[in-house]
Amino acid sequence: MKKIKKLSLALMSAALVLTTACGGGGTQESTTTAQKPEESKTEAKPTYSFKLAHITPPDHMWHLAAEKFKEELAARSDGRMTMEIYPSSQLGSEADMVQQITAGSVDFGFITAAYMSSRADAFTAWFAPYAFKDLESANAARSTDVAKKILATVEDQGLQGLDYLFAGNRVMLTKDREIKGPEDMKGLKFRVTPSPPLQDWYKSLGASPESLALPEVYAAVQTGVIDGMDMDLDATITNKYHEVTKYGAVTNHMVWPAVALMNKASFDKMPDEDKKIIEEAINAAAEYAVTTRSGQEEEFKKTLADKGMKIYEVDPSVFASQIKQFDEKYGPTNPLIQEFISTFRK
Ligand code: BEZ
Repeated sequence: MKKIKKLSLALMSAALVLTTACGGGGTQESTTTAQKPEESKTEAKPTYSFKLAHITPPDHMWHLAAEKFKEELAARSDGRMTMEIYPSSQLGSEADMVQQITAGSVDFGFITAAYMSSRADAFTAWFAPYAFKDLESANAARSTDVAKKILATVEDQGLQGLDYLFAGNRVMLTKDREIKGPEDMKGLKFRVTPSPPLQDWYKSLGASPESLALPEVYAAVQTGVIDGMDMDLDATITNKYHEVTKYGAVTNHMVWPAVALMNKASFDKMPDEDKKIIEEAINAAAEYAVTTRSGQEEEFKKTLADKGMKIYEVDPSVFASQIKQFDEKYGPTNPLIQEFISTFRK
C-alpha cells in the first residue's frame, strides 16, 4: 500500500513538472496574448487577438499608423489576427509598456526611439542632428543594414524590433523668447524627452535640459517650470501646445522615429507565414505614416500660425559646431552609431 502511495506521489510530481514547463495554461496563452491552444489539435491556422500600446493621442500619426497596422493584419490574415489598441499612455509610461511587452501581457508597442536610446545605446544614432535632409530620406534609411542592426540590438531584452515609424522632425517651441540660434538659448529651461543624446544636444546649445515625459509637458510650460520644449509639429497640434507657447522655430534638427516592438518569444514561435504577415503589415503601416505625414508639413505650420503662433524657419548652419560636437562625442561610443553617421552624414 505504502509503495502504491509513493508511486502515485511520484507520478503527480512528474505531471506538475511537465505542466509548469509548458507554462500551465499553455505557453502560447502566456506569451502571445491570445493564440488559441487548440490550433495543434485541429491543424487549423492559429488565430490571434493582439494588444498594442503607445503614448500618443488618437489623432496623432502613430495612432493612425496603429489603426492601419490593425487593418493590414486583419486583411492579410483573412481575419485570423485582430488587435486592440491602447493609445495615450493608457497602459502607463513607455517603461511600463516595454515591461508589459517583455512579460507578454501586451504584444506590440510603438515606443519612441528616444526612450529606447536609454535601454540600448545604438538607438542614439537616430538623434545625430541634421543627418537627413528631409523625412523621406529618413524613411529610406529604415531599410538599410545599419538601421536593421540597430533594431536587432533589443533582442537580448526579449524584444523583436520590427520597424520604425516616423512622426515629423523635431522643432523648438518657446513660451516667450524667439530662438534664432544657440545665442538665444543660454539658460533656457528646455523640455526634452528623457534620453541622453537629447539632453546632450540641448546642453551643447547652452540650454538647461529638463527631462519630462509627454503627459507632463503642457502643465510644465503653462506654469513656467520650463521655458520651451523639443517637440514635433504633430504633437504640438494634438497636445494643443499652441495654447501655451508663442514661438515655433522649425529647425527640423532631428528625426523622430517610433520603434515598433513585439515580444520576441511570441514572434519566434509563430509559423513563418504569420511572421511574414506581421512584417508586411507593419511595413505598410510605416509607409502609410510617412507618406501621409510628408504631405502635412505646410498644413501643420499654417494651422499653428492661424492659432496665433509665430512659426519660422531656422537655417541648420547656425548649429554647425554643435552638430560636429555630437558626432565626435557619440560616434566613438558605439560602432553602429559611427556606421550610421558615416552612412548618412553628407
Ligand atoms: C515627445 O516625447 O516629445 C513625443 C513623444 C511621442 C510622439 C511625439 C512627441
